[in-house]
Amino acid sequence: MPRARGDGWGPYNRVMQLPSLPPLPSLDALISTADKALRSVLAPARAARPSPASGPVPALTEAQRRESGALMRVNHTGEVAAQALYHGQAFVARNENTRAMLLHAAREETDHLAWCETRLSELQSRPSLLNPLWYAGSFAIGALAATFGDRVSLGFVAETERQVEGHLNVHLARLPPEDSSSRAILEQMRTDEISHGAAARSAGGAELPAPVSVLMKHTSRVMTHTAYWI
Ligand SMILES: [Fe+2]
Ligand SMILES: [Fe+2]
Repeated sequence: MPRARGDGWGPYNRVMQLPSLPPLPSLDALISTADKALRSVLAPARAARPSPASGPVPALTEAQRRESGALMRVNHTGEVAAQALYHGQAFVARNENTRAMLLHAAREETDHLAWCETRLSELQSRPSLLNPLWYAGSFAIGALAATFGDRVSLGFVAETERQVEGHLNVHLARLPPEDSSSRAILEQMRTDEISHGAAARSAGGAELPAPVSVLMKHTSRVMTHTAYWI
Protein backbone atom coordinates (compact mmCIF):
# COMPACT_ATOMS: atom_id res chain seq x y z
CA MET A 1 0.00 0.00 0.00
CA PRO A 2 1.53 3.36 -0.98
CA ARG A 3 2.44 5.66 1.90
CA ALA A 4 0.58 8.92 2.17
CA ARG A 5 2.74 11.99 1.52
CA GLY A 6 4.29 13.36 4.66
CA ASP A 7 4.12 10.04 6.53
CA GLY A 8 6.75 9.97 9.28
CA TRP A 9 7.45 13.68 9.00
CA GLY A 10 4.95 14.74 11.66
CA PRO A 11 7.39 14.97 14.59
CA TYR A 12 9.99 16.73 12.41
CA ASN A 13 7.46 19.26 11.22
CA ARG A 14 6.30 19.90 14.76
CA VAL A 15 9.86 20.54 15.98
CA MET A 16 10.69 22.76 13.02
CA GLN A 17 7.49 24.78 13.28
CA LEU A 18 8.38 28.44 13.55
CA PRO A 19 6.63 30.53 16.20
CA SER A 20 3.56 32.20 14.79
CA LEU A 21 4.00 35.95 14.59
CA PRO A 22 1.74 38.06 16.79
CA PRO A 23 -0.60 40.59 15.12
CA LEU A 24 0.96 43.95 14.26
CA PRO A 25 0.88 46.34 17.25
CA SER A 26 -1.37 49.40 17.19
CA LEU A 27 0.08 52.92 17.13
CA ASP A 28 -1.11 53.34 20.75
CA ALA A 29 0.84 50.24 21.81
CA LEU A 30 3.96 51.53 20.02
CA ILE A 31 3.75 54.95 21.69
CA SER A 32 3.06 53.47 25.12
CA THR A 33 6.02 51.04 24.73
CA ALA A 34 8.37 53.85 23.65
CA ASP A 35 7.18 55.92 26.64
CA LYS A 36 7.90 53.03 29.04
CA ALA A 37 11.37 52.59 27.50
CA LEU A 38 12.29 56.26 27.90
CA ARG A 39 10.99 56.36 31.48
CA SER A 40 12.89 53.18 32.44
CA VAL A 41 16.21 54.44 31.09
CA LEU A 42 16.09 58.22 31.52
CA ALA A 43 13.55 59.27 34.17
CA PRO A 44 14.04 58.82 37.92
CA ALA A 45 12.01 55.78 39.06
CA ARG A 46 9.21 56.30 41.60
CA ALA A 47 8.59 53.59 44.18
CA ALA A 48 5.09 52.70 45.37
CA ARG A 49 6.49 51.08 48.54
CA PRO A 50 8.93 52.66 51.00
CA SER A 51 12.53 51.53 50.66
CA PRO A 52 13.50 48.62 52.94
CA ALA A 53 16.67 50.65 53.71
CA SER A 54 14.82 52.88 56.15
CA GLY A 55 17.33 52.84 59.02
CA PRO A 56 20.26 55.24 59.46
CA VAL A 57 22.68 55.33 56.51
CA PRO A 58 25.62 53.11 57.54
CA ALA A 59 29.12 54.57 57.75
CA LEU A 60 31.44 52.80 55.31
CA THR A 61 35.13 53.02 54.55
CA GLU A 62 36.12 54.29 51.09
CA ALA A 63 36.83 50.74 49.89
CA GLN A 64 33.49 49.47 51.20
CA ARG A 65 31.64 52.39 49.61
CA ARG A 66 33.25 51.65 46.23
CA GLU A 67 32.49 47.94 46.43
CA SER A 68 28.86 48.52 47.47
CA GLY A 69 28.52 51.19 44.76
CA ALA A 70 29.73 48.79 42.06
CA LEU A 71 27.48 45.96 43.28
CA MET A 72 24.42 48.21 43.49
CA ARG A 73 25.16 49.51 39.97
CA VAL A 74 24.99 45.90 38.76
CA ASN A 75 21.67 45.42 40.57
CA HIS A 76 20.30 48.66 39.18
CA THR A 77 21.22 47.52 35.65
CA GLY A 78 19.55 44.18 36.37
CA GLU A 79 16.36 46.03 37.24
CA VAL A 80 16.55 48.13 34.05
CA ALA A 81 16.88 44.86 32.12
CA ALA A 82 13.95 43.36 34.09
CA GLN A 83 11.77 46.30 33.04
CA ALA A 84 12.81 45.76 29.43
CA LEU A 85 12.15 41.99 29.50
CA TYR A 86 8.65 42.53 30.91
CA HIS A 87 7.91 45.35 28.47
CA GLY A 88 9.14 43.27 25.51
CA GLN A 89 7.09 40.27 26.60
CA ALA A 90 3.96 42.36 27.24
CA PHE A 91 4.37 44.00 23.82
CA VAL A 92 4.09 40.61 22.11
CA ALA A 93 1.77 38.76 24.58
CA ARG A 94 -1.30 37.35 22.86
CA ASN A 95 -3.49 36.96 25.91
CA GLU A 96 -4.79 40.08 27.69
CA ASN A 97 -4.50 38.43 31.16
CA THR A 98 -0.86 37.53 30.49
CA ARG A 99 -0.13 41.06 29.29
CA ALA A 100 -1.77 42.55 32.40
CA MET A 101 0.21 40.19 34.66
CA LEU A 102 3.49 41.10 32.94
CA LEU A 103 2.84 44.84 33.20
CA HIS A 104 1.79 44.48 36.84
CA ALA A 105 5.07 42.68 37.60
CA ALA A 106 6.98 45.42 35.73
CA ARG A 107 5.35 48.05 37.97
CA GLU A 108 6.38 46.10 41.08
CA GLU A 109 9.91 45.93 39.67
CA THR A 110 9.86 49.74 39.48
CA ASP A 111 10.20 49.75 43.28
CA HIS A 112 13.44 47.79 42.94
CA LEU A 113 14.68 50.23 40.32
CA ALA A 114 13.89 53.23 42.54
CA TRP A 115 15.43 51.68 45.68
CA CYS A 116 18.65 50.81 43.81
CA GLU A 117 18.75 54.30 42.28
CA THR A 118 18.47 55.99 45.70
CA ARG A 119 21.06 53.71 47.24
CA LEU A 120 23.43 54.35 44.32
CA SER A 121 23.35 58.10 44.95
CA GLU A 122 23.81 57.57 48.73
CA LEU A 123 26.92 55.59 47.83
CA GLN A 124 28.06 58.43 45.51
CA SER A 125 27.98 55.94 42.66
CA ARG A 126 26.18 56.15 39.31
CA PRO A 127 24.06 53.97 37.02
CA SER A 128 25.77 52.01 34.25
CA LEU A 129 26.50 54.08 31.15
CA LEU A 130 25.37 51.12 29.06
CA ASN A 131 21.83 50.95 30.47
CA PRO A 132 20.19 52.05 27.16
CA LEU A 133 22.01 49.16 25.45
CA TRP A 134 20.92 46.64 28.11
CA TYR A 135 17.35 47.91 27.88
CA ALA A 136 17.27 47.51 24.08
CA GLY A 137 18.84 44.05 24.15
CA SER A 138 16.61 42.80 26.96
CA PHE A 139 13.47 44.17 25.28
CA ALA A 140 14.39 42.22 22.12
CA ILE A 141 15.02 39.03 24.13
CA GLY A 142 11.68 39.43 25.98
CA ALA A 143 9.81 40.01 22.73
CA LEU A 144 11.51 37.01 21.12
CA ALA A 145 10.59 34.75 24.06
CA ALA A 146 6.98 35.90 23.83
CA THR A 147 6.71 35.01 20.12
CA PHE A 148 6.83 31.35 21.22
CA GLY A 149 3.55 31.83 23.08
CA ASP A 150 2.42 32.85 26.54
CA ARG A 151 3.38 29.57 28.26
CA VAL A 152 6.99 29.91 27.09
CA SER A 153 6.94 33.60 27.96
CA LEU A 154 5.80 32.84 31.53
CA GLY A 155 8.37 30.03 31.74
CA PHE A 156 10.98 32.58 30.73
CA VAL A 157 9.87 34.85 33.62
CA ALA A 158 10.11 31.92 36.05
CA GLU A 159 13.60 30.96 34.85
CA THR A 160 14.79 34.59 34.88
CA GLU A 161 13.59 35.07 38.45
CA ARG A 162 15.23 31.80 39.53
CA GLN A 163 18.55 33.01 38.12
CA VAL A 164 18.10 36.49 39.66
CA GLU A 165 17.53 34.85 43.05
CA GLY A 166 20.86 33.01 42.67
CA HIS A 167 22.58 36.24 41.62
CA LEU A 168 21.17 38.12 44.65
CA ASN A 169 22.43 35.39 46.98
CA VAL A 170 25.93 35.90 45.56
CA HIS A 171 25.70 39.69 46.01
CA LEU A 172 24.36 39.36 49.56
CA ALA A 173 27.47 37.32 50.37
CA ARG A 174 29.76 39.86 48.66
CA LEU A 175 28.31 43.06 50.19
CA PRO A 176 30.42 44.59 52.97
CA PRO A 177 28.82 43.33 56.22
CA GLU A 178 28.49 46.94 57.45
CA ASP A 179 26.27 47.96 54.50
CA SER A 180 22.93 47.21 56.15
CA SER A 181 21.03 49.55 53.77
CA SER A 182 22.02 47.76 50.55
CA ARG A 183 21.50 44.42 52.28
CA ALA A 184 17.92 45.31 53.29
CA ILE A 185 17.14 46.31 49.69
CA LEU A 186 18.59 43.12 48.18
CA GLU A 187 16.80 40.92 50.72
CA GLN A 188 13.41 42.48 49.88
CA MET A 189 14.18 42.21 46.15
CA ARG A 190 14.98 38.51 46.59
CA THR A 191 11.65 37.95 48.38
CA ASP A 192 9.80 39.74 45.54
CA GLU A 193 11.65 37.90 42.75
CA ILE A 194 10.83 34.54 44.35
CA SER A 195 7.13 35.46 44.39
CA HIS A 196 7.25 36.72 40.76
CA GLY A 197 8.75 33.38 39.70
CA ALA A 198 6.13 31.40 41.65
CA ALA A 199 3.31 33.49 40.11
CA ALA A 200 4.64 32.85 36.58
CA ARG A 201 4.90 29.11 37.22
CA SER A 202 1.39 28.88 38.68
CA ALA A 203 0.04 30.91 35.72
CA GLY A 204 1.21 28.05 33.45
CA GLY A 205 4.86 28.88 32.72
CA ALA A 206 6.55 26.06 30.80
CA GLU A 207 9.89 24.53 31.81
CA LEU A 208 12.52 25.90 29.43
CA PRO A 209 15.02 23.56 27.70
CA ALA A 210 18.36 23.38 29.56
CA PRO A 211 20.40 25.01 26.71
CA VAL A 212 18.11 28.07 26.84
CA SER A 213 18.71 28.41 30.60
CA VAL A 214 22.48 28.12 30.05
CA LEU A 215 22.35 30.78 27.31
CA MET A 216 20.36 33.09 29.62
CA LYS A 217 22.94 32.60 32.36
CA HIS A 218 25.82 33.50 30.02
CA THR A 219 24.02 36.56 28.68
CA SER A 220 23.29 37.90 32.16
CA ARG A 221 26.88 37.20 33.20
CA VAL A 222 28.16 39.48 30.42
CA MET A 223 25.78 42.20 31.59
CA THR A 224 26.59 41.93 35.30
CA HIS A 225 30.37 41.77 34.78
CA THR A 226 30.27 44.80 32.47
CA ALA A 227 27.99 46.87 34.72
CA TYR A 228 30.36 46.36 37.68
CA TRP A 229 32.92 48.53 35.86
CA ILE A 230 31.07 50.67 33.31
FE1 LIG B 1 13.54 43.09 40.49
FE1 LIG C 1 11.02 40.14 39.55
